[in-house]
Amino acid sequence: MNDHMPAEGAAVQLSGLKEVQFTLNNELIALTINPAKRLLDVIRDELRLTGTKRSCEIGRCGACMVLVDGKQMNSCLLMAYQCEGKSITTIEGLHPEQGEFDCIQQAFLEEGGYQCGYCTPGMVLSVKALLDQNSSPTPDEVEEALSGNLCRCTGYGGIWRAVQRAAEMRRQSDEAG
Ligand code: FES
Ligand code: FES
Repeated sequence: MNDHMPAEGAAVQLSGLKEVQFTLNNELIALTINPAKRLLDVIRDELRLTGTKRSCEIGRCGACMVLVDGKQMNSCLLMAYQCEGKSITTIEGLHPEQGEFDCIQQAFLEEGGYQCGYCTPGMVLSVKALLDQNSSPTPDEVEEALSGNLCRCTGYGGIWRAVQRAAEMRRQSDEAG
């Protein structure tokens, strides 16, 4: 099934409001939404989590990337009602403790993996999806994982170093148990 298609059997009201429940950053959220709303709009405009960025709005740039059940997803292409029962992670959900950075965020900071920072939340989430599956990715696997994220500023050198550094930190943390 295409990830962007409604779940089989999902009842969609084309007029009126619809109830939806999902987990957002480990918190259960219940909303009454317009079924025409995209996840991007609900996250930013209704839940006020503005780390998820709005840019091309046609699935080309990755600025709006979130994780849905651990997989990369452009939230501009996903209707909010399709998220019923899913687990969604935005950039705000990455802090292990309040005020601390996840190791991927730390690596982007240390290696200069950003300039304006607009693409960074999406980049970081794509790297998380990759490293959660594989903490020793090959260059091809890194390239594939970031193929949906565009950066207009950095030239990608800092981003590339940040991914290597984050992978190293993940391996060290895995070894330390
Ligand atoms: S805003 Fe969603 S891919 Fe660009
Ligand atoms: S840091 Fe500016 S778009 Fe990537």
